[in-house]
Amino acid sequence: MYKTACDPLFPIDCEFPAHENGKFRFIDLFAGIGGFRLAMQSVGGKCVFSSEWDKDSQATYFDNYGEWPEGDITLIAEDEIPDHDVLCAGFPCQPFSLAGVSARTSLNTAHGFACQTQGTLFFDVMRIVSAKKPKVIFLENVKNLVRHDKGNTFSVIKNTIEAQGYSFSYAVINAQTVVPQKRERCYIVALRDSSVKFEFPDFNGKPIPLKTILEPNVADSFTISDKLWAGHQRRTATNLARGAGFTAFCADIEKPANTLVARYWKDGKECLVPQKDNNPRLLTPRECARLQGYPESFRIPARKAVAYRQFGNSVAVPVVTKLAQGIFNYLCEFKPCDLGQTRS
Ligand SMILES: C[S@@+](CC[C@H](N)C(=O)[O-])C[C@H]1O[C@@H](n2cnc3c(N)ncnc32)[C@H](O)[C@@H]1O
Repeated sequence: MYKTACDPLFPIDCEFPAHENGKFRFIDLFAGIGGFRLAMQSVGGKCVFSSEWDKDSQATYFDNYGEWPEGDITLIAEDEIPDHDVLCAGFPCQPFSLAGVSARTSLNTAHGFACQTQGTLFFDVMRIVSAKKPKVIFLENVKNLVRHDKGNTFSVIKNTIEAQGYSFSYAVINAQTVVPQKRERCYIVALRDSSVKFEFPDFNGKPIPLKTILEPNVADSFTISDKLWAGHQRRTATNLARGAGFTAFCADIEKPANTLVARYWKDGKECLVPQKDNNPRLLTPRECARLQGYPESFRIPARKAVAYRQFGNSVAVPVVTKLAQGIFNYLCEFKPCDLGQTRS
């Protein structure tokens, strides 16, 4: 078992240790760098288990929360997982995302549930649900999950959750009113008390401009080379002419940034920051952290490519926090929150 920041014998220096006495208990599956965890902790939840198999993400997680997540979830038996009120899982989205589907289709490989490695991870989530019966299942995935395979994938997910006796609610939420980034994601909240349906809070409002999170002085190393910028402009012109493929523009800093993706570090085409009398520049890792709503004290890995990948894979924390608040309110209404009573 891993050491935790709350173990008085092994105090660990970290920014966001688990609450010693949480108001409810949650688990953090496919934890990444803990976007769900930050949100759930901020409304009083105590994390009692986490799983993430990527070594770099485990290290960032440890640095910030003082816990080393367990590894491959497919190898973890249900009885190794403590009882909990809320199961959180941003299960891997590559088999379902539009980019993932087109890449896989062109490679003639399986996608969705047919992808035997990643697509079946949803059923690992359900294996744990079936054994532990948490009061709430809280899932996140790409927007395309809803339409994937003409809606069949989503129907299987909904039917599987309902077959366990849960109510099912979902919403596609754009993060742009709580962080300066257009990021549409599908959120599912399922309640064990199937007579109640989770009501999603409102995310209407004014989009936040990118300029609100830009650093004033950024090292020259973030400015893209003449060669890269010329290549972007050339491919953008070709793709615009044929009406398909990527287009790389300088961002309008008065508007939210485009969606941050894991591969952003390769060429930055999703969001290039304009600079006066110079080529545009990449966002810095700290700016990426801000685009996803991470606090300033969040510890970022030193290797830039790793940091960009981790923030690109993450959730927008303020979106999850608003949903977490709704879930917490529900838990308190449903039954006074009591850590000792997770399976009533
Ligand atoms: C979409 S990311 C989740 C990011 C996370 N919600 C966050 O806020 O940082 C999915 C994560 O699942 C992890 N993962 C994929 N397959 C896994 C498995 N079999 N066991 C544990 N983790 C896995 C990946 O390494 C990746 O970090």
